[in-house]
Amino acid sequence: MTALHFLRRGTVLLAGLALLSFARAGLANPGDTEMLASLRLGAQLFQQRCAICHGSDGLGEGVLSMSIANYPNTNLLLPRVSTDSTSIRRAIVEGPLFADISPFMPPWSDAMSESEIDAVTLFVVYLRQDLSAAIVYAREAARLMPPSARIGRALFLGRCATCHGADGAGGGRLAVRLQPRPSNLAISQAEDAYLRSIISLGGAVLLRSPAMPPWRGEFSETEIESIILHIHALRQQRHEEVSNEARR
Ligand code: HEC
Ligand code: HEC
Repeated sequence: MTALHFLRRGTVLLAGLALLSFARAGLANPGDTEMLASLRLGAQLFQQRCAICHGSDGLGEGVLSMSIANYPNTNLLLPRVSTDSTSIRRAIVEGPLFADISPFMPPWSDAMSESEIDAVTLFVVYLRQDLSAAIVYAREAARLMPPSARIGRALFLGRCATCHGADGAGGGRLAVRLQPRPSNLAISQAEDAYLRSIISLGGAVLLRSPAMPPWRGEFSETEIESIILHIHALRQQRHEEVSNEARR
């Protein structure tokens, strides 16, 4: 893509933002509807593709980045490289091929259409221009997100693996100090309703070990459902391992 091309897109985005300020000032403007739809799409894509590293509000507290020590700073309000809409777009399209961006940032050119990239760029620009308004869009989009096993896995590795082990079998780093031991979640037959209760309310309320913490205050309902999907995946994985062994 040529520099001119980027420049043109940058201009389109900036014009868009000007329209948005109109929208918030309550002034009628023919471009509003399209612009707002693009912003909404951007917020939604951001939740689906970016929040896992950049956090659901872009402030860097992604479940993946938080679970890895010394992960590069992913707070989009404190950019190192991307200072305007053109360089934001390039960072998104090119990832580590642009400037000296860390290889942890994937390039998105093959994974999103041009208009999706425009929409998510617009969302990042808007985030920097008017954080509190952008967060309203981000929260709305996060609320509408379906649970995902991928997010569940990252949350599990970040918060549960210290006790339950990365494979869920109960052998985490803290496990030896606990009696009763953290449950083996890969062979647990607990039903979803029970998983939901013990994860949100903790062990003590259900007359189990108080060492199992309550997570209700920390995770949204969708995040808890995501973790449950991951527990299903751990059970499936263990089931496959056992049947492979039996076949040998
Ligand atoms: C797997 C983790 C991961 C995902 C997913 C991810 N990013 Fe990043 N992103 C990073 C990291 C790490 C950096 C680089 C930090 C650095 O090099 O300083 C980064 C950098 C950036 C930058 C440049 C920031 C700067 O310092 O100037 C932008 C803009 C950006 N990401 C936007 C996005 C958008 C939009 C998405 C979703 C489409 C996304 N990222 C998805 C990890 C990720
Ligand atoms: C500090 C250690 C610790 C952490 C962290 C922890 N747990 Fe637990 N968990 C336990 C212990 C101990 C038990 C066993 C309780 C008992 O048997 O009385 C348990 C039990 C459970 C059970 C019950 C399983 C069954 O079959 O009855 C589930 C489900 C569970 N934990 C899920 C999680 C999830 C999900 C997380 C992360 C969000 C998590 N735990 C984090 C210690 C922990």
